[in-house]
Amino acid sequence: MSVTVLIGLQWGDEGKGKMSHYLAADHDVGVRFNGGPNAGHTIRFGENKIVTHLVPSTALYNKPSVLTPGVLIDRGVLTEELFHLSELGFSKSNLLIDPSCALITESFKSQDIGSGKKIDTTGRGIGPTMAAQINRTGVRIGEALSMNNNALDGWFCRTVQYIRNAIRDGKRVLCEGAQGHYLDLWHGTYPFVTSSMCTIGAVCTNAGIPPQKIDRVVGVFKAYCTRVGNGPFLTEMSNFDDKAKRIAERGKEIGATTGRPRRIGWLDLIDLREAVRFNGVTELALTKSDVLEDILTRVAFDRPNGKPHYLSYLWRKASLEDRDFRSFVNYVEEFTGVPVRYISTGPLTEETLDREKDNGTETIYNTEGKSRCNSQPYRRASF
Ligand code: IMP
Ligand code: MG
Repeated sequence: MSVTVLIGLQWGDEGKGKMSHYLAADHDVGVRFNGGPNAGHTIRFGENKIVTHLVPSTALYNKPSVLTPGVLIDRGVLTEELFHLSELGFSKSNLLIDPSCALITESFKSQDIGSGKKIDTTGRGIGPTMAAQINRTGVRIGEALSMNNNALDGWFCRTVQYIRNAIRDGKRVLCEGAQGHYLDLWHGTYPFVTSSMCTIGAVCTNAGIPPQKIDRVVGVFKAYCTRVGNGPFLTEMSNFDDKAKRIAERGKEIGATTGRPRRIGWLDLIDLREAVRFNGVTELALTKSDVLEDILTRVAFDRPNGKPHYLSYLWRKASLEDRDFRSFVNYVEEFTGVPVRYISTGPLTEETLDREKDNGTETIYNTEGKSRCNSQPYRRASF
């Protein structure tokens, strides 16, 4: 039995696509349990690049890939995505869709484009589709498509039962979250949030996985923050700031779904720690620290009068051999109380360090805030 959940700890776009693809190699079944085509997971490996919106990244290993209730489906987006995935070797018999998934209709999409301006939504019909679900007037994909005798029919499956059996049979299940903690309908920066749940509980309520079955929660965060769309952003930098421009350019901070430029800001450790605690994160995955090479980085650690206080770091190379980078990683671990197990060192899936596997004794991990010496072995947090 083993269930891993991957959750974004900021406002989405933390690099979940890449991390999910990395972790999928060691899992047998992939599950999407929230969001819809508003998500855009960019995955690059070897010469390949794909942006997925609905299907979990296990599809790229041609493993069973499940969409559970809680995922909102746009048929056009799904069809196109399946076409691209099949070119990369995904066989459609490995796609499993719950008939209870809500269907995004054309009318929901046009309503969203009309009413989503204040929030600056992705225009994918998420809000109106969820509103209809809650009003009990929504359209469920199973009913809608079986009436049309559609080809998708063959892929329908009671996913809750399927996942339960997979866990019982010792399969390793990877639940790939979409969006991020601060876009959660209830716990995010309301009303500037998405219309579904992006936090840990959605794994239980949507995918039907009992909480005791979840073994690992991998929280993904970037070495800085971005936000696409409107809403509060305490550590935001001005658009005109040269550093923000460099980060946007080097980090290719353009929305994967909508092409909108993302707003840029510094890493906020107070928000990060809250997201870690809330979601019961057991290990962290740090992404895009290479983008900040040679940029005097700032990290917010306090906000006495609502204004962030910063510590600065300047690393030459985002490698644990670099002393300044190491002290940054250490500080994050001390502050959040959770080990930074994965470090992404570039956009490709291959460019990932797993400190538990790759160099388990060399690095420092210290949540007590005592020693920062190099001799302390990396170890997992215990809860
Ligand atoms: P909606 O999800 O399209 O309703 O958009 C609501 C807010 O969430 C907007 O600010 C979007 O930009 C943001 N959002 C939704 N999905 C994502 C995502 O996958 N990454 C980043 N931002 C997102
Ligand atoms: Mg994205």
